[in-house]
Parts: sequence; C-alpha cells; structure tokens
Amino acid sequence: MKVAVVGYGYWGPNLVRNFSWLEGVDVKYVCDLDRSRLDKVSSLFPNVSITTTEYQQILDDPEVDAIAIATPVNSHFQLSEAALQAGKHLLIEKPMTDTVESANRLVELAKEKDRVLMVDHTFLYTGAVRKIKELVDAGKIGEIYYFDSVRVNLGLFQNDVNVIWDLAPHDLSIMTYVIDKKPVSVSAVGVSHVKDGLENIAYLTVFYEDTTFAHFHMNWLSPIKVRQIMIGGSKKMVVYNDMENTEKIKVYDSGVETKPGSKDELYQTLVQYRTGDMYAPKLDQTEALRTECRHFIDCIVKGIRPISDGEFGVQIVKMLAAAQASIEQQGKKIRLDSL
Ligand SMILES: NC(=O)c1ccc[n+]([C@@H]2O[C@H](COP(=O)([O-])OP(=O)(O)OC[C@H]3O[C@@H](n4cnc5c(N)ncnc54)[C@H](O)[C@@H]3O)[C@@H](O)[C@H]2O)c1
Repeated sequence: MKVAVVGYGYWGPNLVRNFSWLEGVDVKYVCDLDRSRLDKVSSLFPNVSITTTEYQQILDDPEVDAIAIATPVNSHFQLSEAALQAGKHLLIEKPMTDTVESANRLVELAKEKDRVLMVDHTFLYTGAVRKIKELVDAGKIGEIYYFDSVRVNLGLFQNDVNVIWDLAPHDLSIMTYVIDKKPVSVSAVGVSHVKDGLENIAYLTVFYEDTTFAHFHMNWLSPIKVRQIMIGGSKKMVVYNDMENTEKIKVYDSGVETKPGSKDELYQTLVQYRTGDMYAPKLDQTEALRTECRHFIDCIVKGIRPISDGEFGVQIVKMLAAAQASIEQQGKKIRLDSL
C-alpha cells in the first residue's frame, strides 16, 4: 500500500509518522506548497521516498493507492476532488470541507469511483471515546439525557476558520458517535474579540427530537486549558477529562429517580437522589491516530466501511454550517434538514 501525505504543517507530520509505523504501508510522498517545510522530512522520516511541492505528481503516479489531506480547510475540497477523480482512496482532515454542498459532492464522487472516503475525526479512535461508546451501547449509561462539553484554552488563532470550525468538530464527532439519535437543529452564539469576523469564543447547542440535549463551549481565549465532556444518563453519568493522564473516564452511579408522592401529596412527585460508587475503567492507550490509520488501510484492503466515513463527515459539516448560520442570525435555531 503506497500512501501520500499532503500538507506538512502542524498535523501532517503525525500522519506521516503513523502511516510509516504501519506494516505493509509505504509513505511514498510528502507534499507541501512550502518547500522549507519539506526540508525537515528526510531527516525525520528517511523512509519517505519523495518530497514534492507538485500535487499533480502524486495524482499522476499509478503506484499511489491512497492520499491523506492535512492542509487548511479551505483547500480540502479541491484537493480531495482531484484525488478521487484520479482514483485514489482518501483520508481528509477534519472538518471534511467548508460547505455542506462540497462535502456531499465528495461522498457522491467516492461512491461513483468506488473509493474509500474517510474523515480524520481522531477522537473517535481514542481508547476513552471507544470505552464511552462501549458503555452506552451496552446500555450501562441508560437513556442519554445530555452531553455537555467544554473545550477551551489559549488557542492558536486560525487564519481561515473560527473557533467553532476549529474545535467543535472534535466534540460534535464524539457526540454523533456516542448518541445513536438524529440531531434536529442547532443554535449558536459567538463573538470575535481579536480578528474581524472570526469568532474566538462560542456556545453551541444541539437539539434532538426528544429531550436529549447537547451543549458545547469553545474558546481560544481562556487562561486555562479544559477538555471535559459530561454525559448524563438515566442509569449512570460519565465524565471524560482529557487532561487527566490515567483516569480520563470516570463513571458515576449518580442520578435522580422520581416516585409518585403519597396519597396526601397526590399531585407531588418525590425526587430521590442516588449517589453511589464511581469507577475509572481501564482504557486502551494506543495512539488514536495509529488506530485510525490502521483502520483506514483495513477499510481499503478488506472493503470495510470506515467509522468516520464521508457520510459521517457530512453530518459534522452540517452542524458546523448550521452553527455558523445561527451565529449570523443571533442564535436562531437552524434546522439541519434545511441545509
Ligand atoms: N485531527 C486532529 O486532531 C487535527 C489536529 C490539528 C489539525 N487538524 C486539521 O489538519 C488540517 C491542517 O491543519 P494544521 O494545523 O496542520 O495546519 P498548518 O497550517 O499548520 O499546515 C498546513 C500545511 O499545508 C500546506 N498547504 C496549504 N495548501 C496546500 C496545498 N494546496 N498543497 C499542499 N500543501 C498545502 C501549508 O504550506 C502548511 O504547511 C486542518 O484541516 C486541521 O483542521 C486536525
């Protein structure tokens, strides 16, 4: 299997490293428009055969089976469309593209060309998120009432996307993976303090058909780094603190139960609190990107559908686009089926 990685900035080297580690996979090309970035490739990854600034060279090479795109979001569509047209399997960085139309177009094209299309939603491949998914699917958490996420730090201000497009793909992808229900609408508010038009703080809410409720807080201007997700269920509650080294996931046997009141209090309902034990399950410590790169190759070789396939990527882009539209309309609820 011969792979090319396009975009060798912050994230690209992680893809090169993880693909290089995989048995049976050869990173034939690393491509970046900036020649100076490529100068570092050969010392770090002597296994990489060719570095190039010419993307077309990769498209024209029949030996290349798959391409991983790790360039800024606004270039994803153009590079991805060309890769699929050239018959290459494709792994695109999150978020898949910057519009719903272009994301849908890539899904269609991948089907037409019978190629694997996967989006790098790295968190889905972490031991922590896989454990949460396992607990939810096994019915251990019960009915999910809410999903509450905080992702804030003194973040790197991006040039082309706001804090929602940069950070929310992580939390939205975790929510979509864990909650097996279709979200209906999105509302968001956000403000830009530093760069005109690019919000650096935002609050996003996702509504479902029932009372399941998800809320996200993203901020590039926070003095402290918080990466925490709380999932409240009817049976158990989960706290996922990604800043923890060992006990990232804690499962609490906490909740409330309502019981009808006595005859004297016929119309009242008694709320009974349950605060039982807490435990921290053991997690798989394998680097998420390694698991993900292996999964991508397996999908190509064995014809498996990727966990974060093109359709999954479209769902995330839809919620991001809805959030953007909502911000522009002062937090108006935007229905996802209107996009
Ligand atoms: N999965 C994750 O956890 C994760 C983490 C960080 C970034 N990302 C994603 O990775 C992508 C890249 O982010 P980054 O932080 O590495 O950006 P970056 O700006 O650090 O690097 C992007 C690189 O792409 C190169 N480039 C731009 N256009 C190109 C083109 N047309 N052809 C070839 N090279 C080109 C640039 O020269 C630059 O070196 C984004 O989509 C981002 O959202 C994902």
